[in-house]
Amino acid sequence: MDIILKTRTKDHVMIFWERTQDEEIRRLFPFSIESLEEALILFEESLKEDALSYGKVIYFEGRYVGDIWCYGIDESNEKMSMLSVVIFEKDLWGKGIATEATKVFAKEVFNKFDIEKIGAFTYSNNYGSISLLEKAGFIKVDTFVENGIESEYFEIRNNNKVGSIRNNHTVAR
Ligand SMILES: CC(C)(COP(=O)(O)OP(=O)(O)OC[C@H]1O[C@@H](n2cnc3c(N)ncnc32)[C@H](O)[C@@H]1OP(=O)(O)O)[C@@H](O)C(=O)NCCC(=O)NCCS
Repeated sequence: MDIILKTRTKDHVMIFWERTQDEEIRRLFPFSIESLEEALILFEESLKEDALSYGKVIYFEGRYVGDIWCYGIDESNEKMSMLSVVIFEKDLWGKGIATEATKVFAKEVFNKFDIEKIGAFTYSNNYGSISLLEKAGFIKVDTFVENGIESEYFEIRNNNKVGSIRNNHTVAR
């Protein structure tokens, strides 16, 4: 599959904002950003050394089709981060693009940051999201209701890191 994750630029932020004003996408995904100005400020902040978020843009067959990012990166206490992914090219849904992008991005995030797990929230009726998370190796941890909407919480653990912790432990003993 011809999928490449690239570095996000200001132009991507503007295209992403425009394309995600779509009603169906907004129903499936709770966007917290309320204006393009806010999106651009958050983008600038994400470039800083100590940023708590990190994102990439998804290219499929040479075309910019969506974004994938992690937020709430906590390397000190919880050793985790949260993940979101959006494919705004709706004609391309169901082809496995988000699943592949999530697998590659999770690997990159586990390598880049000192975290042990990645979490993801999704509405319970967002079958595309639940299916992609499961196919990418995430496991359902919790179901809860917030503001009258049923949601699910998924997690994936960094198996390599668990292995190396065990190995260190064995050596220490
Ligand atoms: C959720 C989303 C990222 C999935 O992207 P995608 O590239 O279609 O994902 P994949 O093709 O890898 O997997 C999607 C799965 O959902 C299924 N699916 C469910 N509803 C679908 C729909 N309306 N259209 C296409 N596929 C759908 C697909 O069949 C596929 O499952 P399968 O392989 O078991 O058949 C995309 O639909 C999207 O951007 N939605 C809006 C934002 C969102 O909800 N993000 C998730 C937050 S974690």
